[in-house]
Amino acid sequence: MFFCVIVLASLASALVLPAQVPLRPQDHSQGYKFDPLLHLPGISPYFDAVGFGLEHKAPEGCNVTAASYLVRHGAIYANDKEYEEFIKPFLVKLGKHRHGWTGPLAFMGEWQSPIEEDKLEELTPSGAVDAAKVGKHLLERYEHLVPDTKRILADKKSRTYDTAKNLVSAWSHNDSIEIVQVKKNEDGAMESLIPHKSCEAFSKEPGKEEQATFVDIYGSSVATRLAPYMPFKLTPKDVVGLQSLCGYESAINGKRSDICAVFTDAEWMAYEYAWDLKYAHMVGPMNPLSPYLGFPWLHAQSDIFQSIDEHGTPGDGWPEKQRFFLAFTHREVPPFVATALGLFNSSSSAVEEFPDDHINWTRAWRMADLIPFLGHVGMEKMTCERGAVSGDGPGEFIRFVANTAPRPIPDCQSGPGASCPLKEFEGLIGKGAERHKDFHAVCDKKEE
Ligand SMILES: *[C@@H]1O[C@H](CO)[C@@H](O)[C@H](O)[C@H]1NC(C)=O
Ligand SMILES: *[C@@H]1O[C@H](CO)[C@@H](O)[C@H](O)[C@H]1NC(C)=O
Ligand SMILES: *[C@@H]1O[C@H](CO)[C@@H](O)[C@H](O)[C@H]1NC(C)=O
Ligand SMILES: *[C@@H]1O[C@H](CO)[C@@H](O)[C@H](O)[C@H]1NC(C)=O
Repeated sequence: MFFCVIVLASLASALVLPAQVPLRPQDHSQGYKFDPLLHLPGISPYFDAVGFGLEHKAPEGCNVTAASYLVRHGAIYANDKEYEEFIKPFLVKLGKHRHGWTGPLAFMGEWQSPIEEDKLEELTPSGAVDAAKVGKHLLERYEHLVPDTKRILADKKSRTYDTAKNLVSAWSHNDSIEIVQVKKNEDGAMESLIPHKSCEAFSKEPGKEEQATFVDIYGSSVATRLAPYMPFKLTPKDVVGLQSLCGYESAINGKRSDICAVFTDAEWMAYEYAWDLKYAHMVGPMNPLSPYLGFPWLHAQSDIFQSIDEHGTPGDGWPEKQRFFLAFTHREVPPFVATALGLFNSSSSAVEEFPDDHINWTRAWRMADLIPFLGHVGMEKMTCERGAVSGDGPGEFIRFVANTAPRPIPDCQSGPGASCPLKEFEGLIGKGAERHKDFHAVCDKKEE
């Protein structure tokens, strides 16, 4: 009885003051639960990004008439450099100390590394399964375009080719698809697919020092916290290695690793920041080469879309009816494209955004949302019945998606669903291409 009165009273207040009633009373966080797998830039299994809340489907009144995607390969056993630097030193110590693991680390006494050293950079079985899932997802999203996709691109590495093969296995016309392994720079094909490999001046060194500074700070405190539960003390780099194993083990076995539960939320956020910092300097806004390396792909896709518009075919040797394009590449390339367009840009200067002695919680640059295994950036061409604001006439628009979530271009978002009017986009790409056309001037090492 008493209970009823309370329910009625709260119902009544809900009717009077609808604006003040939370969606789920007494659950202020609406079920928010931290998940480390969403905070592992570069090494987590694929997940759809949330983005900014724009609808993932084409906006009302719009149809996607062509799309082009740049896709990172699926899960591998480990990146060889990360393995040597962070993971292997930890595994060697683990091999010598199988006793003395207790508390939250008790399972480490029996734990075996899932990484097979002789095939570090090969696609894993669960990577292959995930690739097929993404293929199915793309088929659902572009049901009307996929059947005409007859030619897709990969590079010479087996992991991109194998990812392509598995992704299209979800499509019923898979046996009529040609997967071209780009090995020569014909028509600039390599510059747009793997620009960093055509750029002598590019190196993976930038960001190493900044990352090391930050890792020393947070890694030492994690090592101290875990010391009572283990037979030796972790170095800050071991901490990074152990955290990486949460991502790799989950991606290799297709199920969450026990290691993921060892660290606190704040320790995961520090790990995430350490890598965002590294990627910002290596492939993002802190590297002046990044836009130069992102523009060739953008320029090539823009040409394809323009040719479809003007001649009704993509040109350049593409099958005449193909409207959905896929190119398989490596983790560096989607960030170059994102940087060239400013898709992960904040409104203040890049320099302020990346301190190396504390986490910048409000940064826009979050690579966990762009480069999990199978991470992708896609460019959609849409025909819409009317423009968003002006309401005038049918029009053509371009929209970018990162891991299925739309990401507006800061400089051009006046169309439906914050898309960019095609003509404006072409202008933007033209200007960017003009500014960044000297790929070789910045990339070729000068003779000493
Ligand atoms: C091609 O697609 C068919 C039908 O969806 C499927 O049964 C087959 O396994 C696929 N072939 C390959 C090589 O993936
Ligand atoms: C993104 O931010 C960087 C750093 O503040 C700036 O130099 C760059 O011009 C911005 N890019 C775009 C496309 O807005
Ligand atoms: C974090 O980055 C933003 C830009 O995204 C910048 O405005 C701000 O000053 C930075 N804050 C800290 C605490 O470093
Ligand atoms: C989008 O496609 C639907 C179904 O094919 C069609 O009825 C509609 O007119 C199209 N809209 C535009 C703007 O092209």
